[in-house]
Amino acid sequence: MASNRGHRLRLEDISHRFGDVLAVRDINLDIAGGELVALLGPSGCGKSTLLRIVSGFIRQSSGRVLFDGEPVDHLPPSRRGAGIVFQNYALFPHMTVAENVAYGLKAQKWARRRIAPRVAEMLALVHMSEFTGRKPRQLSGGQQQRVALARCLATDPKVLLLDEPFGALDKNLRLDMQIEVKRLQREYGITTILVTHDQEEALSMADRIAVMARGSIEQVSSPTEIYDRPKTLFVNQFVGSANVIAGEFMRAQDGVAAVRVGEGALLKVEETPQLAAGAPVLVSVRPEQLRLNAAPGEGCIAGVVKAVMPLGPHVVYEVETQSGTSLKVSEPRAPATPLRRPGESVHVAAPAAACRVFPKP
Ligand SMILES: Nc1ncnc2c1ncn2[C@@H]1O[C@H](COP(=O)(O)OP(=O)(O)O)[C@@H](O)[C@H]1O
Ligand SMILES: [Mg+2]
Repeated sequence: MASNRGHRLRLEDISHRFGDVLAVRDINLDIAGGELVALLGPSGCGKSTLLRIVSGFIRQSSGRVLFDGEPVDHLPPSRRGAGIVFQNYALFPHMTVAENVAYGLKAQKWARRRIAPRVAEMLALVHMSEFTGRKPRQLSGGQQQRVALARCLATDPKVLLLDEPFGALDKNLRLDMQIEVKRLQREYGITTILVTHDQEEALSMADRIAVMARGSIEQVSSPTEIYDRPKTLFVNQFVGSANVIAGEFMRAQDGVAAVRVGEGALLKVEETPQLAAGAPVLVSVRPEQLRLNAAPGEGCIAGVVKAVMPLGPHVVYEVETQSGTSLKVSEPRAPATPLRRPGESVHVAAPAAACRVFPKP
């Protein structure tokens, strides 16, 4: 099993300061052997800093990094055994593809007769065997990134650290590379941290996602858990799209909370937050969970269709409620079914199981 081959990684109470800026704060994260964890968050939230701390290029202000239970903080980057791939490839421009891949092996003083077969093996792995003699400038972005990956994997690193590795690639190529890297990572069973600000990339590639904001981890969970059960409003809004409706907390009973929203409707939410009656809250619900009804009903919010966007298999409606809140509703679209029209009065139904309630920040 791949998961038995990978090395375990532990980050313990890690914080880092750049002068006055607390770039990373109190990070605790355990990564299992062979696991791929994505660090997901907006630009400037501390992802790259954390990755550089793991690799040893930045010495953290406090906390420990452990590989397989052993602290590595005293080791320089070259002795930690972490392989890194950055967004901008960083291949040596004057070296051929083969020389680039051989570089790390020479630096590690591999025996000369072992280097050529290893280079060939790695280039075959990333489907670049035909390009051994080319210089980086004679390759496309995706091809260069493959070579960077081969160069990184050649030395058999303990952990693979990827910092926005597909950021410079166009959309189709990015998807190919994501599939490719996921395949290699599985085949190799290599423990991997993937830094990205792209939620789809994190959702599609990661075993678990750590969502970061302002230097902290807000939630670490599986992709489906992050999407279905976000723990904070930030995670809810950063991953996927969400409608946010302001309201007033009424009560919680038998696992169901009642929230009065501005429109006068009483929304039911399958949660029991510890809040006082009357507390201001935000209810969040994803567009694909909402439905439009012609008739009013319990827990429905009245509104008017403002925009109709048929997006192939789905149709997205923008609905303005009486108090002026704009809601997005995404419904499956059956062929030949008439769409609703702008100006039409509708009632937006929000199922209790699909709503999350958060205290208003
Ligand atoms: N070398 C540095 N010197 C000073 N501040 C830095 C340095 N590197 C990063 N920062 C700051 O630390 C914070 C986190 O940066 P970074 O880890 O690069 O974020 P991300 O990779 O999530 O975009 C930002 O506020 C950034 O400006
Ligand atoms: Mg970064």
